[in-house]
Amino acid sequence: MNDGDGTATARDRGGRSGSLGTALVIIPTYNEAENIRSIVGRVRASVPEAHVLVVDDNSPDGTGKLADELAAEDDRVHVLHRTGKEGLGAAYLAGFRWGLERDHGVLVEMDADGSHQPEELPRLLTALGGGADLVLGSRWVPGGRVVNWPTHRKLISRGGSIYSRVLLDMPLRDITGGYRAFRRTTLEGLGLANVASQGYCFQVDLARRSVKAGFHVVEVPITFVERTRGDSKMSRDIFVEALWRVTAWGLAERLGRLLGRRT
Ligand code: GDD
Ligand code: MN
Repeated sequence: MNDGDGTATARDRGGRSGSLGTALVIIPTYNEAENIRSIVGRVRASVPEAHVLVVDDNSPDGTGKLADELAAEDDRVHVLHRTGKEGLGAAYLAGFRWGLERDHGVLVEMDADGSHQPEELPRLLTALGGGADLVLGSRWVPGGRVVNWPTHRKLISRGGSIYSRVLLDMPLRDITGGYRAFRRTTLEGLGLANVASQGYCFQVDLARRSVKAGFHVVEVPITFVERTRGDSKMSRDIFVEALWRVTAWGLAERLGRLLGRRT
């Protein structure tokens, strides 16, 4: 159950109910000056009890400064300033560390550009409170949608999910998506200290680790709305990193199984 205010109540695996604790919504930013005020305001309105952490990589457009202004106005808004652009993966790892050092029981990943609608967050939190260890906001399950994406982005995303699903043997539909809610205990069980993924394959990496660790992963349909302001940071390098890492993980897995069977 979720009371809609960021404090999800859970019936845990042992059958006892207990509170999952306050949610921290982590929003990584690089040049999101046109979006930051709107997204933070929407999160605060949608789930008033939740805290927000903006993780800014020293954006040249001043996003970090705008985030500081929002934090000064609201004691549930926080900013983590990093020295330079090191990728989505590194930004989330720093954000998770920040949240885990404090008392947050739920950690949420959300893009800054409005593609992940804060108004859908209560549904993700409800699924987490209902017993999931990780909830994926999913574009590719019934009820999920993408609005305003060009065909090539749809192909990359669907293709990436299908490639990962087959190669990594994962029963999930949207493996590359970035709208997610984790229980603290899930993140603590993923071995975050040895995550090397820098770009968007970070998302595949964490999904893969969650399934391998035996966590209960649930997909909840979302409507992903393409940004109307600012630019996507998706690049050729990010695509290439995802392709080689997913391939390497898949091959290593198969090789491991093969060798395991022989001994
Ligand atoms: N701090 C930081 N550092 N933030 C970053 C960086 C970085 O190096 N790169 C991107 N971001 C932030 C953006 O500012 C935005 O808030 C969020 O990460 C997502 O970046 P976009 O550039 O908007 O991603 P997208 O819309 O192309 O990709 C979406 O789909 C991918 C494929 O499904 C996202 O949801 C990705 O997470 C997802 O993997
Ligand atoms: Mn985007």
